[in-house]
Amino acid sequence: MMSTQSTCTPDTLLRKLKLTTVKSLAHVLDVENELSCDWRRFASLVPKRPGSTEMKYDMRKIQYLEHKLKRSGSSPTESIIQDLGTVNMQVKDIVKVLEIMGHYEAIKILLPEYSVPTEQAQPDTNHQIAVPEFDDSKIHHFTFQEVIALTANFNAAPLLEGGRKIGEGGFGAVFLGYFKNETKCAVKKLFKEELNPEVNILQQLQQEVETLLHLKHKNLVKIYGYCLENLCLVLEYIPEGNLCERLACEGSKHPLSWKSRVSIATGSARGINFLHNNNYIHRDVKSANILLDTDLVPKIVDFGLVRRLPDLKTSQVTSLVIGTNAYLAPECLAGNFSYKADVYSFGVVLLEIITGQRVFDKNREGGDLVSFIEDLEDDDAIINEVDKKAYPYDEDQVKKMYDVSSRCIQKKKLRPEMDEVYKELAAMCNPA
Ligand SMILES: Nc1ncnc2c1ncn2[C@@H]1O[C@H](COP(=O)(O)OP(=O)(O)OP(=O)(O)O)[C@@H](O)[C@H]1O
Ligand SMILES: [Mg+2]
Repeated sequence: MMSTQSTCTPDTLLRKLKLTTVKSLAHVLDVENELSCDWRRFASLVPKRPGSTEMKYDMRKIQYLEHKLKRSGSSPTESIIQDLGTVNMQVKDIVKVLEIMGHYEAIKILLPEYSVPTEQAQPDTNHQIAVPEFDDSKIHHFTFQEVIALTANFNAAPLLEGGRKIGEGGFGAVFLGYFKNETKCAVKKLFKEELNPEVNILQQLQQEVETLLHLKHKNLVKIYGYCLENLCLVLEYIPEGNLCERLACEGSKHPLSWKSRVSIATGSARGINFLHNNNYIHRDVKSANILLDTDLVPKIVDFGLVRRLPDLKTSQVTSLVIGTNAYLAPECLAGNFSYKADVYSFGVVLLEIITGQRVFDKNREGGDLVSFIEDLEDDDAIINEVDKKAYPYDEDQVKKMYDVSSRCIQKKKLRPEMDEVYKELAAMCNPA
């Protein structure tokens, strides 16, 4: 057995670490099993340089490390430590990462005098992992076993059959969870295998978490915690489904009145405007990402594709176009994403709210909702397209909402800011 004693301090450069210390670290981090893979998680969390907020390894680099090293039988941890040594990283830089992981065994190898925070100091001797306590006062880092306990081992049977699966989207499946006190939560488990290899899922998840952590708003879904080990987010459970299902009256729900449609549109605009005011673009605004609370308060979800931009006026060119096509602003196809892309997508959501029609229907003339609406004879013709389920409605309000929506789906330059959209919709709820 190798000695785990180290003579280093927090300021020791990684490249000066003794080989035996690195080997001991590798001994605990290289372990891989069905539930965890510590070196991968470690790699996904290390910054590019000391103090940098950018990550050093993206998914492709991690996969490359895995393939290269597995073939040669080398240790991934040793290779990562060597790599980090070249950018003058010190012991304290990786201790920060290990603290996030809660990997105190590894920290003790580097700094034997390190005192483990008391709540973590007691190892759980129970084989049966307890269902976690509900605590929304801070963000919780769940272990995978805890997430398993929350979701009855990701019971994939539908809710109606007594299972836990709420649904599934492009990036993962969502399960109902229960904390110890019976408070519900929604656990979004992200698939890694079905992702576009261009998309860095760990970064995406971290981004989603970071975003939600700092953004608290009545119209955004709350995050209770996450599990990086196996890519899960633990979110506030929003009981009334999403707007897309609700407009289609799925699950025999009663139709949305015109009044509640105005209020849902306004609340959603408020949530997106809040994101924009905090320099975030959502990038996947759609009715399926607007959840409804019991009192029909809309909550925006799925910030995985949010990108932080330096200020409201810049646009970011990316070769990576992610999104749902019928909602996608035309300029996004050229990789040009800006806040105005969200405004466009929201304009499409407003059309869904007015007409109750699906965004894409191959049997409809024009196929997608925007083309169909653009082919209407004149602006007044929208009245004939109002969702019959929203009757009775206020004609002036329909025209007003349609006017806002039409401006949102114009050419990028002509589109309003989300702030204006929100204010115009809010004025409909509370006329001066
Ligand atoms: N916090 C939550 N509370 C309750 N239901 C939720 C929650 N988050 C998601 N859901 C539901 O889970 C289902 C799957 O959501 P998911 O986000 O995976 O799919 P999507 O929105 O259709 O597609 P995408 O992956 O593009 O976001 C949807 O029906 C959604 O309404
Ligand atoms: Mg979603």
